[in-house]
Amino acid sequence: NREFNSVTPENEMKIDATEPQQNQFTFGNADRIVNHALGRGMKVRGHTLAWHSQQPGWMQNMSGSALRSAMLNHVTRVATYYRGKIDSWDVVNEAFADGSSGARRDSNLQRTGNDWIEAAFRAARAADPGAKLCYNDYNTDDWTHAKTQAVYNMVRDFKTRGVPIDCVGLQSHFNSGSPYPGNYRTTLSSFAALGVDVQITELDIEGSGTSQATAYRNVVNDCLAVARCTGITVWGIRDTDSWRASGTPLLFDGNGNKKPA
Ligand code: XIL
Repeated sequence: NREFNSVTPENEMKIDATEPQQNQFTFGNADRIVNHALGRGMKVRGHTLAWHSQQPGWMQNMSGSALRSAMLNHVTRVATYYRGKIDSWDVVNEAFADGSSGARRDSNLQRTGNDWIEAAFRAARAADPGAKLCYNDYNTDDWTHAKTQAVYNMVRDFKTRGVPIDCVGLQSHFNSGSPYPGNYRTTLSSFAALGVDVQITELDIEGSGTSQATAYRNVVNDCLAVARCTGITVWGIRDTDSWRASGTPLLFDGNGNKKPA
């Protein structure tokens, strides 16, 4: 409450959490977070409506037109339920492959047809016209990476064809294998130049002390330098709560004390 003005549920809005059985929606855990945030004037980032991971079992076992319909129904029902409460939705998460291919990631959703992403965005816009609609991914921080370029080309195509997209989320999980890239500001400004906001959506930086603090400072300064960089979300508060706790990647230690970062 003291340090943040925006909140993202780490798991509570994912598909397995909100639609554990087909057409049976459960919003209790997400509502506790949303109500806490809105009651204190904080914004909420919704995460996430369509993703290959953390699907409920019934969806994992679906394919083809039945899966396409179920995905669109999920987008519609969840975005409608939260209409007016969400600042930005991660409509589609992690739809591109890693490596040099620049291709879409294979998944049951991708196999329903290459247009599944734009179909999800159109459904989200219809359900909640006031929310900003984001595409969110990782390993899209380095401007030279094929995956970054592939997402950039998709967003440019969407803007050209009028597919409703308002923002690009860069997860920005940094560690020694995937370090903060020196061209990060170029990535942020290049996406912004397409006419979308950019948001840093799941920031964590493995390390400690001065070097970790320097990396956090660089990320924040890069966002501040780009007018359309409209938010920085860290993926947890205390190191001990992080999904990568062993890397002590967050801003507060296990006792809740502020770190140099
Ligand atoms: C992670 C959560 O932090 C973990 O608690 C969970 O077990 C798995 O998912 N990219 C995303 C996030 O978009 O949803 C993931 O969150 C981390 C990677």
